Amino acid sequence: MRGLAGKTVFLTGAGAGIGRATALRLAREGMRVWVSDRDSGALDDTLQEAGRLNLRLETVKADSSSEAEIGQAIRRAFDATGRLDVLVNNAGGSLHTPYRFAEETDEDWSRVMGLNLMGAVWACRAALPLMQRGGGGRVINYGSKAGRYGSLIAGPNYAAAKGAIASLTRQLAMEYGPDGITVNCICPGVVLTPRTSGLWAERRSAEERERIVAEIPLRRHADPDDIAGVVAFLASDDAAFITGVALDVNGGQAMA
Ligand SMILES: NC(=O)c1ccc[n+]([C@@H]2O[C@H](COP(=O)([O-])OP(=O)(O)OC[C@H]3O[C@@H](n4cnc5c(N)ncnc54)[C@H](O)[C@@H]3O)[C@@H](O)[C@H]2O)c1
Repeated sequence: MRGLAGKTVFLTGAGAGIGRATALRLAREGMRVWVSDRDSGALDDTLQEAGRLNLRLETVKADSSSEAEIGQAIRRAFDATGRLDVLVNNAGGSLHTPYRFAEETDEDWSRVMGLNLMGAVWACRAALPLMQRGGGGRVINYGSKAGRYGSLIAGPNYAAAKGAIASLTRQLAMEYGPDGITVNCICPGVVLTPRTSGLWAERRSAEERERIVAEIPLRRHADPDDIAGVVAFLASDDAAFITGVALDVNGGQAMA
């Protein structure tokens, strides 16, 4: 990918799953990669995996549900490298809250909104001034098919949080475009990670799972590397004129 080597990227909640795959992909592209997670074991595993692949990345323990922690972590990456080019707001998820609206409590809503939406808001609040100072940058948010067309495994709180991420993306793209900063959001369908594989099996019968995959035009769910490639593209020079989009990455499932 053009224009990635030597640039600094900060990825939140990237000790596992899609975030880890994306961090490794961006390290392979020659970026200076900083990964945060609240789980230090996950960070250690990511570091080991990077070592096995002969890739370099830096890790920092930070809870994306805390404005202070995520702000300090982003600042640390900036101070160490002297720049911040790309922010990937990956931390998120439905936090195993119920699928049915009537069963979701205020606390469930608050946790899911706090991590998915406010986590991205707080990371942007810390990162955008640093990007302005550097003359430009890229923000890549993680929406979801859930936020655009509904979810088969996560509930209304998650769908609402991911819809809000898409709206936040558009508004920030308008406000920060004049500073040379693009803001985009990717909207994956189901991506098979250890967490979602469990949730998928718990919330849909074997028969339903088979039928749903059979209706996806590409006849499979995504792999974390499918998402990592899209993030690398949006961070690259080839995506310089794309901003404010919510990009479907769902194998055509939205048409099914
Ligand atoms: N997996 C999917 O099917 C799917 C589909 C659409 C969108 N997404 C979105 O993609 C992103 C990554 O999803 P995933 O399935 O890879 O996630 P995951 O559940 O596998 O978690 C990845 C990492 O996030 C960390 N994490 C969780 N809460 C955190 C917090 N408060 N602060 C810091 N780190 C925290 C975990 O420790 C873990 O290492 C999320 O925003 C998710 O909503 C996922």
